Amino acid sequence: MRKHIVAGNWKMNNGLIQTETLISELKQQTKTSDAEVMIAPSFTNLWHAFQSTRQDPIEVVAQNMHFADNGAYTGEVSAGMLKSIGIKTVILGHSERRAYFNETDESLARKVDQALEHEMRVIFCFGEELFNRKAGNHEDIVERQIKNALFHLDADAFKHIVLAYEPVWAIGTGETATPDQAQDMHAFIRQTLEAKYGKDVANDMTILYGGSVKPANAKEIFSKPDVDGGLIGGASLKAEDFFAIVNAF
Ligand code: PGA
Repeated sequence: MRKHIVAGNWKMNNGLIQTETLISELKQQTKTSDAEVMIAPSFTNLWHAFQSTRQDPIEVVAQNMHFADNGAYTGEVSAGMLKSIGIKTVILGHSERRAYFNETDESLARKVDQALEHEMRVIFCFGEELFNRKAGNHEDIVERQIKNALFHLDADAFKHIVLAYEPVWAIGTGETATPDQAQDMHAFIRQTLEAKYGKDVANDMTILYGGSVKPANAKEIFSKPDVDGGLIGGASLKAEDFFAIVNAF
């Protein structure tokens, strides 16, 4: 089902004390929109964050996971480990994972399969770089990223997937895609889904936009018909800003 989602990707920020503080500040905020709210703290704080938001309408999600069940993968965390502490959703394919940790469409396809096998929901991220946009092949890049990592799945699997379009040139740069650029790409993503899986899958897909979303621009971006929410980095680290975005619907 298509829904509004605002997810805060904390990235490699916040130790235990800051996590406690930010969560208690988030709890003081009032939600006036229908958006589902998610936060993605670091692995070390997932359990604590999960425990302390049990009674609140905030879902704690992971920023990444490995594609294997278990074994000799030093430093990695599995789907089973996440599930064992109550985590049901994982962000996969963030551009920082792709750029700094060599994640490829192929390894991401395996991660997606693994998450779905463990009945987890996936927030699957993708997006073009600035040179792609300048060369005018941003749609081709996005289409390839989606096809390579997801198009081996059957239509039913898409019930457990949320897409997050994040143009790399807009992440953490203060540069946002214009609401029209976001809308155009989200409409293109829906067309791409429709061509392979039909209208229902395309219409039901929740597609988030990410890249320098702030309280000042969220309303306009979220007003676009094919934009169903946001994946928020920097602005998710301040409770008030994050909730201003949550309430921008
Ligand atoms: P940003 O990050 O909001 O800081 O640009 C977005 C993201 O990386 O998900």
